[in-house]
Amino acid sequence: MIKKCLFPAAGYGTRFLPATKAIPKEMLPILNKPLLQYGVEEAIEAGLNTMAVVTGRGKRAIEDHFDTSYELEQQVKGTSKERYLEEIRKIIANCTFSYTRQIEMKGLGHAILTGETLIGEEPFAVILADDLCNNEDVGVLAQMVKLYEKYKCSIVAVEEVPYKDTNKYGVVAIEEQPALKYGFQEDDNAFKVTDMVEKPSPQDAPSNLAIIGRYILTPDIFDILRDTKPGKGGEIQITDALLQQAKQGKVIAYKFQGKRFDCGSVDGFVAATNYFYDKNHS
Ligand code: G1P
Repeated sequence: MIKKCLFPAAGYGTRFLPATKAIPKEMLPILNKPLLQYGVEEAIEAGLNTMAVVTGRGKRAIEDHFDTSYELEQQVKGTSKERYLEEIRKIIANCTFSYTRQIEMKGLGHAILTGETLIGEEPFAVILADDLCNNEDVGVLAQMVKLYEKYKCSIVAVEEVPYKDTNKYGVVAIEEQPALKYGFQEDDNAFKVTDMVEKPSPQDAPSNLAIIGRYILTPDIFDILRDTKPGKGGEIQITDALLQQAKQGKVIAYKFQGKRFDCGSVDGFVAATNYFYDKNHS
């Protein structure tokens, strides 16, 4: 069973400067809720209750957010404003949060390896909070957890992107036929990964299937990451480590149901804001 979710949250958020100068990018709100809280809610919906956050310098607002603020509780107690704290109170009551700091920014693979101390020897989920996902029915991570229970191997969520954008993502090549291991419906969207490349130029991309910020990883990934040399951009890439598992036929690419917004970009952030505004006001 998957219980833990890792949130790499040490990055500088340079695309959102100056907003992210003193505020972690994970705390930027879509409507009145920080991006990271959406991620935590998605993890809870998937049945996970242990949140492991890899933070860095200047990210203390994250820890404060997932903690009780006694002053605030006193202020709003018995007033109509109390309802605004209901969701976050529930999260704090039902989950545990643990934190570790990434001292140097050496890539997503390095951030995940930094989280090993919080995860240990068990399969776990990874959510990149700036990829905001939403599905009316079952959430994206919950879909993946269900798939993991059948396949018991690493899983990456993928979606088609325009070829001109392949250089922004990890890109996978997949077997043509769905994995269809057990004949369940969602297996139609699960494919064995045969190759993966971090941020290829369009002409070098093995397909236009991009990895988005949802992963399920088996714990052997930590040993692989320890041996993974810096790749694209001189950083330790999770894509390169996953390729080692894929070579053994142990990575599934999952074409998820739902929407995903790249909230690390201003355009995606605005699109997400409009989408959630319309959703909440319809
Ligand atoms: C990271 C990963 C990339 C993945 C992307 C999803 O890139 O390295 O493989 O496709 O997240 O958002 P980043 O966006 O951190 O540059």
